[in-house]
Amino acid sequence: MTDLLTRMAQQPRDVLDAIANSMNVRASEPAMRSICARYLGPLTAPDADVLEIGCGNGAATRLIMQHVRPARLVGIDISPVFVKMASEAFAGQPGMSFALGEAAATRQPGSFFDLVIAHTVYSHLVDPQVALAEAYRVLKPGGRLAVFDGDFASLTVALFDGDPLQSAASIVLRHMVHAPHIMRQLPSLLAVAGFAVESIEPHGYVQTTSPDYLLTLLSRGMSAAGRADEIGRAMVEGFDAEARRRVANRTFFGSLTFVSVIARKGKVNP
Ligand SMILES: C[S@@+](CC[C@H](N)C(=O)[O-])C[C@H]1O[C@@H](n2cnc3c(N)ncnc32)[C@H](O)[C@@H]1O
Repeated sequence: MTDLLTRMAQQPRDVLDAIANSMNVRASEPAMRSICARYLGPLTAPDADVLEIGCGNGAATRLIMQHVRPARLVGIDISPVFVKMASEAFAGQPGMSFALGEAAATRQPGSFFDLVIAHTVYSHLVDPQVALAEAYRVLKPGGRLAVFDGDFASLTVALFDGDPLQSAASIVLRHMVHAPHIMRQLPSLLAVAGFAVESIEPHGYVQTTSPDYLLTLLSRGMSAAGRADEIGRAMVEGFDAEARRRVANRTFFGSLTFVSVIARKGKVNP
C-alpha cells in the first residue's frame, strides 16, 4: 500500500495543512536542529548549486540554507500547494526557486548540480531506484547526494511488552510511511545506481517531555486510519488521549533512529 505522502498531490487542503504544520514542528525542534547541523554542516558549499528533492513547504530548506549556505537552491515537490508555500516563504531571497517535480523526473538539467538533498523523502517513494538514477543524472561528476530519513522500522513508543500504544506506531507506518526499511536498503541501491557511498551516520532521536513531532505523527496516522474506516472515532481519540496522558504525567517515551547517507557520483576520494 502507498502511504499518504506518496499520494500527496491528491490530498485535501486540511490534510496538507496538518502535514505542513508537522514539518514546521519537526524542523524547529532542538533535537532535529542539532541532527541537521551534524549531517548538513560538513556539506557546507557556498558556491554550490543545490537541488532539494521533496522540499515540502520549505521547513527543512531553512536548515539547508543555514548549514550548507549554497549560492543557489532549487526545491521541487509533487504537491503544488507545498511548492506555493515554499515559494512564498522564501519570496525575494536571491538564488532560490521552487517548482513542481518528481524525484524520478525532476525536470532539471543533466550534470548541473553540485549537491542533491532529499530530507525525509525516500521513505515515501514507490521506486527509489529510479529516483537515485535521476539524482545521478542531474549531478555533476563528483557531485554529492545526501539522503536523510527515519529508519521508521525502529519507531517505538512502547513502555512495556504488549503496550497497546505501540499499535498506534504500526498504524502510523501503515499510513504515513511507504518504505520503513529504506535506509537499511539504501547502500545497495546506491551502488546499483553507480554512486560511491562516503558515509552512513545514525542519529538517535528520543523524545519524552515535549514530543511535539511524534504526537503530530501519531495523531496524523490515527486520523488517516479513521478516514480509511480501519478504526472508529473512539479508538482514534483513545490513542491520542493515551499519548497525551503520558506526556502530561511524564511517562511518554518515543524513539526513532534517523540516518544520513552521503554518496558521490564517481569514486570516493581516498
Ligand atoms: C515528510 S515530507 C518532507 C518535506 C521536507 N523535506 C521536510 O523535511 O520538511 C515529504 C515530502 O516529499 C514529497 N514527495 C513525496 N513523494 C515525492 C516524489 N515522488 N517526488 C518529489 N517529492 C515527493 C511530499 O510532497 C512531501 O512534501
